[in-house]
Amino acid sequence: MNTTDFLDRYGPAALVTGASSGIGAAFARLLAEAGFDLLLVARRADRLHDLAGELTAAHNVKVTVCAADLADPAAVDAIAKAAQGVDIGLLVSNAGFGLKGPHQNNEPERMAALLQVNCAAPMQLTHCFLPALLERGRGGVILTSSVEGLMGIPFSAAYAASKAFTNSLGESLWGELQPAGIDVLALCPGSTDTEAHALQGIDPATLEGMMSPREVAELALLNLANGPLYIAGEQNKAMFDALLGMPRRDALRQMADNIRAVLLPRGEKP
Ligand SMILES: NC(=O)c1ccc[n+]([C@@H]2O[C@H](COP(=O)([O-])OP(=O)(O)OC[C@H]3O[C@@H](n4cnc5c(N)ncnc54)[C@H](OP(=O)(O)O)[C@@H]3O)[C@@H](O)[C@H]2O)c1
Repeated sequence: MNTTDFLDRYGPAALVTGASSGIGAAFARLLAEAGFDLLLVARRADRLHDLAGELTAAHNVKVTVCAADLADPAAVDAIAKAAQGVDIGLLVSNAGFGLKGPHQNNEPERMAALLQVNCAAPMQLTHCFLPALLERGRGGVILTSSVEGLMGIPFSAAYAASKAFTNSLGESLWGELQPAGIDVLALCPGSTDTEAHALQGIDPATLEGMMSPREVAELALLNLANGPLYIAGEQNKAMFDALLGMPRRDALRQMADNIRAVLLPRGEKP
């Protein structure tokens, strides 16, 4: 699909959560390059305003900023308010975070926030923005999930479970909305070069074969009509095809070894 067709099908404006860094910022840049007006959401307002200034100057698009903490169940109401007057044809629910390490070491408050940000917010956002898409009979929804949602992931139990939720939400909505002309994609990136790893206490130098956030976002936009679920990157697809073809107990043991290898440098003894 060329840029004009893409804008006609999913424009004129896109809502991107988690736009202050990583994959979300890459989505925002690519969509502005394609001529989309944007509503950008995250907690770090300074970063969102910097990005808005950059994109407005470079692409002559209208960018609205909404600073919101998606761990607060009321955040979606604030986003809906900020979206008044913005004609959203594409929802990119991308904000999320992970917790790595032995499950019993996670702080309960962080797990509650993870559930709200990774699971409840995409569910509420789709609920809020779908009526307008249905009314016009076209549009798109991208839910940034993870390859970790494709199977259980030892030492990432809460995060993997949250992304299994996202995959199921995406697949279910794809089934509901395909006849109405709305494309839904659960995007499953593998390891991507963003701030997410350091936030989980993992040294990015211990990770191999990371994709760039721009590459991941670009592949997602290219494959938006090829839902319900898309694994970004041939290497990630081959790895998870192999894991999912194995007896599940063997796959889980192999994955536990892989994650131990990146956790051990920070001194944990899972
Ligand atoms: N990097 C990877 O290897 C990888 C792999 C698979 C899937 N993913 C998924 O990709 C998505 C984007 O992550 P990333 O890798 O780009 O990491 P990132 O650079 O850390 O970006 C995460 C984004 O989510 C926002 N966010 C986090 N908590 C939030 C909250 N409580 N309220 C509002 N916004 C919040 C952050 O903004 P603020 O901090 O400004 O609020 C930031 O914009 C996530 O859903 C992640 O699970 C990442």
